[in-house]
Amino acid sequence: MIWEERIDRSKLPDHVAIIMDGNGRWAQERGYNRIYGHQHGVDSVREATEAAAELGIKYLTLYAFSTENWNRPSDEVEALMGLLVDTIEKETPTLNKNNVRLLAIGDLARLPQPTREKFERCMADTASNTGLRLVLAISYSSRWEITAAMKQMAAEVAAGKLTPEQISEQVVAAHLNTKDIPDPDLLIRTSGEQRISNFLLWQLAYSELFFTKVNWPDFRKEQFYDAIFAYQHRERRYGKTSAQITPKHD
Ligand code: FPP
Repeated sequence: MIWEERIDRSKLPDHVAIIMDGNGRWAQERGYNRIYGHQHGVDSVREATEAAAELGIKYLTLYAFSTENWNRPSDEVEALMGLLVDTIEKETPTLNKNNVRLLAIGDLARLPQPTREKFERCMADTASNTGLRLVLAISYSSRWEITAAMKQMAAEVAAGKLTPEQISEQVVAAHLNTKDIPDPDLLIRTSGEQRISNFLLWQLAYSELFFTKVNWPDFRKEQFYDAIFAYQHRERRYGKTSAQITPKHD
């Protein structure tokens, strides 16, 4: 069935986050090195971005490089960084054409300076776009983000700008990298793994989780639509009862 018939445009998630997993295994299964898998993963990034933009989803966050990924062999780290920057630079005109704004979360200070500058330029070049927000998590981990937020709040308390009593969930959220971004409604993880892997731990508190066995390089719009379709058939209760969410009408 084509997606227009399956997907209810009035019940779209505002924010979809994806843990893109399985590039290495996809390549190794085919007798290639892991970098070949990452190269093919770029096509899937394009597919997911296009699918999200076409549907009118407001935010798409992609886990592109974790804090832990810095521990991979240096040739793989270099290849991933190169691929990220080259893709973003190459795709910036297309992002602009499609009104997509590029944002980043993560410890960008750890990136080599030329890489960071290129990212910053691409973000600035798309800053006035008002359509899909494409958020790349780069050198990101949730524990890093939460620790940084705690340090920041502690410093504000020490400076007399914040009292411990003023620290609420809203204040914590306002100290995270995602302060201007709503929590994800839906998290997709590819490659059959069923873990969160230090990704958006605070923000995923009430997100629906969708796991697919498809490795990231094989992820196409169809898999994106499958996830949206599954999401639309979940009941989000936020700790309430089913009756409270869908009260009966007489
Ligand atoms: C996980 O597969 C994937 C990554 C760590 C990197 C994802 C990056 C890209 C697809 C590059 C381009 C990205 C953008 C946003 C332009 P894995 O290597 O952990 O696979 P494995 O679990 O099979 O080893």
